[in-house]
Amino acid sequence: MSDRTENQTADTLVPRHVAIIMDGNGRWAISRGLPRLAGHRAGTENLRRILRAAVEFGIDYLTIYAFSTENWGRPPEEVHGLMRILEDVIDRELEELHQEGVQLRHIGRLERLDPKLQEKVLSAIELTRNNKQLVLNIAFNYGGRDEIVHAVQCMIRDGISADEVTDELISKHMFTAGVPDPDLIIRTSGELRVSNFLIWQAAYSEWYITQTYWPDFGKEELRKALDTYAQRDRRYGGLSEVVGNEVHAG
Ligand code: FPP
Repeated sequence: MSDRTENQTADTLVPRHVAIIMDGNGRWAISRGLPRLAGHRAGTENLRRILRAAVEFGIDYLTIYAFSTENWGRPPEEVHGLMRILEDVIDRELEELHQEGVQLRHIGRLERLDPKLQEKVLSAIELTRNNKQLVLNIAFNYGGRDEIVHAVQCMIRDGISADEVTDELISKHMFTAGVPDPDLIIRTSGELRVSNFLIWQAAYSEWYITQTYWPDFGKEELRKALDTYAQRDRRYGGLSEVVGNEVHAG
């Protein structure tokens, strides 16, 4: 038995970067006879809990999928509601997040958002840019394919020649430049798909899928995901460590 304290996970192998597809808000709400937006609000409250837990567990980077490039296709009131949530989070939570040492970053395209909201996002990023406790990357109007298109466009505009293109150079042109690739990606509500999330960065990420809807995915579930991660054997396409004379492929 380990003598771990309440805030430790089973192993010291805490992922540095955890990314989350916060799915199931709509079903959570419908199953309670509530409008879908109530699910997104409950999901936002849960984000607060998970953010605190992430700091306690020693995670350095948390990336959340809050609004995809495909989410524009949802009913206008839901799209508008999600925009309002982002605005409310900045208006109501920014000061506390700043005090807690959270560095806010955005991945995706700000261009299509209301100019006032764009300004709020940019000033939140500016205010928190030197914070060191945890980097919270908010994927908002984000799509993995769109990110790759954007990176290719930037490289061509910069006059980069074909021979100069490498893995590292592409990573540097992603919205996530400077952020390590996610070690662990969590998807709530049981769907088994990538949904255009970090498709470049997820090349060697470990996945954790749970049936739990996002508003119910609490600290204990996060601990369970981290414990599962700690037991994974990450081989990056290679083999496990050599034990004695045998190579363990796992
Ligand atoms: C997917 O659930 C969730 C989203 C599209 C939005 C997630 C957003 C939040 C939790 C709010 C946090 C936002 C910010 C800006 C901090 P779904 O609606 O597709 O669920 P369903 O599959 O059950 O319908």
